Amino acid sequence: MLRDRWAVLVSGRGSNLSGLLEMRDVLDIRVVVSSNPKASALLKARRAGVPTLLLQKKVDKKNDKKVDWQKLDSELRDRGVNHIFLAGFMKVLPADFVRRWQGKILNLHPSILPAYPGLKSIERAYEERADIGVSVHLVNEGVDEGPVLAQRRTIAASCLATQSLSAIEFKVHVDEQRLMRETILKWK
Ligand code: GAR
Repeated sequence: MLRDRWAVLVSGRGSNLSGLLEMRDVLDIRVVVSSNPKASALLKARRAGVPTLLLQKKVDKKNDKKVDWQKLDSELRDRGVNHIFLAGFMKVLPADFVRRWQGKILNLHPSILPAYPGLKSIERAYEERADIGVSVHLVNEGVDEGPVLAQRRTIAASCLATQSLSAIEFKVHVDEQRLMRETILKWK
């Protein structure tokens, strides 16, 4: 068993979470946190017997409801978590949270970073006939920035013309799981 204790943050379907749950013989996943109560990732975690949390909100001075990142920080520390994996987590972490977890947050992203950060990365790369692939990187204060730990080119730009977007997305998702697994196994 690797000695690190992980929280996995998700927002949607959770195909990458499933890949991480399959590694539980070597990976200590203490909790799965979702930004979205309807995320099917939550069901996957519960079925695997992993505790889940929803991001809590609090009312700020301007009477707006904002994610309570401080609460998340304490919940994770109370559970002994010392590493965070963003597996399809679609919220931007605030800078002070990132600083508190510096060097301990990994993000999976479906592009060859620094190309195509943000949303709809596969579609944008496909439309522009660019190389398509996946990256795992350490998270800094930017969006899909931070030092790249591993990358894989799934499909070269020159091969895109013969493939549909859905076929490409499928191959990217297969590569995402492979790269995640390899990176975590090599992680210090
Ligand atoms: C994955 O393709 C992941 O790389 C991407 O969201 C998808 C989530 O799928 N993440 C980002 O774009 C982060 N910027 P999943 O919920 O099935 O794992």
